[in-house]
Amino acid sequence: MSSQPKIFRAVLLLLFLSLVGSTSSSKAQTAKPPGIAIARRAAEVREGASLFRANCSPCHGLGAYGGGRGPDLTSGRWTHGSSDEAIFATITHGVPGTEMPANAFEDSEVRAIIAYLRSLAPSKDEAITGNAKNGDRLFHGSAACGTCHMVSGSGGLLGPDLSRVGAARSVTYLVDSIRDPNKDLSLGMTDPNDHYGLPLLYDTVTVTTNSGEKILGVARNEDTFSVQLMATDQRLHFFLKSEVKSVVHERASLMPPYPETFLSASDLNDIVAYLVTLRGQRVEAPGAK
Ligand code: HEC
Ligand code: HEC
Repeated sequence: MSSQPKIFRAVLLLLFLSLVGSTSSSKAQTAKPPGIAIARRAAEVREGASLFRANCSPCHGLGAYGGGRGPDLTSGRWTHGSSDEAIFATITHGVPGTEMPANAFEDSEVRAIIAYLRSLAPSKDEAITGNAKNGDRLFHGSAACGTCHMVSGSGGLLGPDLSRVGAARSVTYLVDSIRDPNKDLSLGMTDPNDHYGLPLLYDTVTVTTNSGEKILGVARNEDTFSVQLMATDQRLHFFLKSEVKSVVHERASLMPPYPETFLSASDLNDIVAYLVTLRGQRVEAPGAK
């Protein structure tokens, strides 16, 4: 009574198996079942995301869209190469002479981070709409940026050197730096007197001498006893703290804000387009091709 459906089921099963067999045997040599590959990929991306959050987001921002100390990694503009091998080399060896550190990850961890970066949608804010040539003119001309900033060996000394600012910063950060300099103060070179090796902050320092003279600038060097100031006259001044009335730090930028009334949206776009082209001397990550 029940043998009829049993045979029927067995035939169905055979048919099914032969179908699966034929489809999988044609692909078996080249690929794993797609479901497993997708699951594995998702796990790799998740691992990469958590490694990124812990190790990279303090500089590159949550989601890799750029922070105060590192570039947007979703912009599609790569200074050190866009291939997996090039990114692998950059992550492993860092970029010597910049804030990008070397890392001692397992190879599989670096691959997971790359898988994570590849999974991200590009940020819309990174689109460049301005005219870099005109930005160059404004920077060194009417906007007077060059009076305080060095680019490729010429310019002022009060602000940070901008020769590789296009490699090191996101577009959003560049716009904020110009419109609202107090929002996120730049970090300068590593303070040689600070044994933690923390970078000096570009805040505003006022030294008042015993005769009442006030000298305004940014600290280039400071310890308990002395301070070396790059003053608004673009010269270095050295003071012993015991010989002045006061040394006051203010959490403010010496850079004037450039509101829309001073620098139009289109001029700002042009200056940002110019800044993005500033990638310094090409620093090849060791091993990168
Ligand atoms: C202390 C800050 C800092 C940390 C931490 C950091 N980076 Fe960077 N990273 C930078 C800076 C600055 C640059 C730009 C270097 C330059 O001027 O060329 C950079 C560049 C890069 C580049 C090259 C981008 C390009 O345009 O070619 C990659 C890729 C990168 N970082 C990935 C990572 C990953 C992944 C981590 C975490 C494992 C990480 N970084 C941690 C600051 C940092
Ligand atoms: C009076 C001097 C002065 C002028 C003029 C000036 N800056 Fe600055 N700039 C500074 C100082 C000081 C800092 C560091 C403090 C800070 O983060 O605002 C700075 C910071 C910056 C930064 C951030 C750099 C980084 O890596 O964090 C950018 C970008 C910048 N300036 C661009 C410009 C542009 C573009 C102009 C012209 C439109 C300009 N600056 C005009 C003094 C100046």
